[in-house]
This record gives sequence, structure tokens and C-alpha cells, in this order.
Amino acid sequence: MAGLLGSVFLLVLQAYAAPPEFIQMWPSTPTSGPGSLGNETVSPSLVPPPGTSKRTPHSIIIGVRKGGTRALLEMLDIHPGVAAAATEVHFFDWDENYAKGLEWYRRLMPYSYPYQITIEKTPGYFTSPLAPARIHAMNSSIRLLLILRDPTERVISDYTQVYFNRLENHKPVQAIEDVLVRNGGLNTRYKAIQRSLYDVHVKNWLLHFPLDQIHIVDGDTLIRDPLPELQRVERFLELPPRIVASNFYFNQTKGFYCIRSDGRERCLHESKGRPHPPVNSSVLQQLHSYFRQHNRNFYRLVGRTFDWH
Ligand SMILES: *[C@@H]1O[C@H](CO)[C@@H](O)[C@H](O)[C@H]1NC(C)=O
Ligand SMILES: *[C@@H]1O[C@H](CO)[C@@H](O)[C@H](O)[C@H]1NC(C)=O
Ligand SMILES: *[C@@H]1O[C@H](CO)[C@@H](O)[C@H](O)[C@H]1NC(C)=O
Ligand SMILES: *[C@@H]1O[C@H](CO)[C@@H](O)[C@H](O)[C@H]1NC(C)=O
Repeated sequence: MAGLLGSVFLLVLQAYAAPPEFIQMWPSTPTSGPGSLGNETVSPSLVPPPGTSKRTPHSIIIGVRKGGTRALLEMLDIHPGVAAAATEVHFFDWDENYAKGLEWYRRLMPYSYPYQITIEKTPGYFTSPLAPARIHAMNSSIRLLLILRDPTERVISDYTQVYFNRLENHKPVQAIEDVLVRNGGLNTRYKAIQRSLYDVHVKNWLLHFPLDQIHIVDGDTLIRDPLPELQRVERFLELPPRIVASNFYFNQTKGFYCIRSDGRERCLHESKGRPHPPVNSSVLQQLHSYFRQHNRNFYRLVGRTFDWH
């Protein structure tokens, strides 16, 4: 919750980018900072900026897990016309009272000005069988953002995240070959491999949404050269072009781009861009050949090719 409130607060700090009438209505030096905010109703500094409201999102980053969803959302948040949600909600995976849930979902969205669009990200949606129909029921004209990487890289990244989470929680870990290989062959039932079958998952979305409502961001390109990918997203969301080259600087230590916006500099969390474990080359080859046909199917379904193995 503190994270959510913190981001509401940060949103307020972004008000400089808003039309002048909003700036005057909002104090430039709030009395408390992110982290110290614990309760939406008690702190006067948390009174929503006049003229803002909470709405269901206009766009959702639906996945894929480990595709670069956090980087994409943080980079889009540079845009003054974007209000980014701070929490992942997994709302459309649930089987609860829909109307009640929708109200709760809306409350988790950031306060936004009428000229802003709200964006949330929940990487699990892409592989959820329930999400497409439910999101469609909420807003059939919503614009979906899907960020993908080479499916083999994604599997290794998925494994790496689980590996570090388990280490932190003092749980036993397995070597990558032990989860990827079963009885001498590729363990295609491994969840991380299943999640990389982009053709299987996108088919499910295309049953509910036309292709022109789904914009695919090339996650490998976004990391190497963020601006052109973000400009494509601006056009897809019909936002005026506001993200510029000076919003990014390369951090040599991290080996990644960091963000410069609103006079602040920020890099992605340390857990992003962890080095991957070395993987046995014959297992890598097996992954590449397993995904090859699935990738081709995917290219055909979305009418676009990617630079994947
Ligand atoms: C938040 O504020 C309300 C109203 O003042 C109060 O009833 C509630 O206990 C507070 N919650 C927390 C977590 O401080
Ligand atoms: C549905 O999404 C579209 C596209 O982002 C947006 O223009 C529209 O306002 C949304 N409708 C609602 C009710 O939020
Ligand atoms: C660059 O990355 C390093 C390592 O993550 C970090 O400690 C440092 O603060 C970053 N520098 C800048 C200018 O972002
Ligand atoms: C890779 O794994 C195979 C069995 O899965 C094994 O025969 C081979 O020696 C391994 N290669 C290396 C370089 O470790």
C-alpha cells in the first residue's frame, strides 16, 4: 500500500508537466515524502489533486513476465500524459464478484487528470486463460501493450528470478539444467517454457481483441535503444510525442539505460538485469529448436517477425 500511495505522491510531483492551473492548486513542497505515507485518509497532503480522479486503465501492459514490463511502464511514466499504476493487481485472474472487484480495481489505479491516460501492468495476464475475456468485458476498446523477448532468454530470466527469490527465502534451489531437462529430453512441461509459447497465448487474446488493439514492444530493443520503441508506443496510444533522447542516459556500471525526468534520475531495481547462469549449449540448442516453430506461428499470427533464435 505504501508503494501505491508513494506513487500517488510522485504523480503529484509530476504536476509541473500539467497545465499551469493545476500547478497553482497544488503545493510545490508537500509536507511528507514517499515512505512516510501510511494512510490515504489521514494525511492532508494525500488529498487528491483537484480535478483528478481514479479510472479504470486506458491501457494495460499484459506481459510477458520477464519481458521488461517494469522498464516499459517506468519509461512510459516519463510522459506527462501518462499516469502509471504502482501495483500489480492480477484482477482478471480472479473469480470473484465482478462488479465489486471492478470498483476495488479502480481504486488501485492512480489519480489522473482528464487529459491523462492511466496504464497498469500485470505480467501474468498474457498467459492467463481468463484475462482476455474479462478485460474485454471491462473495456472492449482498451489498448493492450505486450512486451516480448527472445523466448529462450525469457525462460532463463524466469528461472533466474525464481532462483533468487528462493535463495532469499532460504528455500532449496535447483540447477537450471535440472529443471530444463527431464529423462534426457527438454522438460516442456516446465512452467517457464510454457510461458514462452507466445503463439499459444496470443491466440487466446486474438479471440477477443483485434490485432490493431495489441501493440507488441520488442523488449530486446527497448533495453538496447529505448527511444524508438517508446515513440512507437506513443503513436499507438495516440499520445503527443513527449519522450525524448535526453530522458535516457547510459549507466556504464549497470550496463543499462536509466531515466532522467522531472529533474530526477532513476534506474531500475537491482534485481533487474541480473546476470544469467551459464546454460549447457546442447540444452540451449534444444530450447531454440523447440521454440522455432512456435515463433514462426507467432510471427504469422501477429504479421510481424522478430529477431529471435
Ligand atoms: C486510516 O485512517 C482511518 C481514518 O482516520 C483510520 O480509521 C484507520 O485506522 C487508519 N488506518 C491506518 C492503517 O492507519
Ligand atoms: C476504454 O479504452 C479506450 C482506449 O484507451 C478509452 O479511450 C476509453 O476511455 C476507455 N473507456 C473507459 C470506460 O475507460
Ligand atoms: C549507476 O549504476 C550503479 C550500479 O547500479 C548505481 O550505484 C549508480 O547510482 C548509478 N549511477 C547513476 C548516475 O545512475
Ligand atoms: C550438456 O548436457 C549433455 C546432456 O544433457 C551432456 O551430455 C553434455 O556433456 C553437456 N555439455 C556440457 C558442455 O556440459
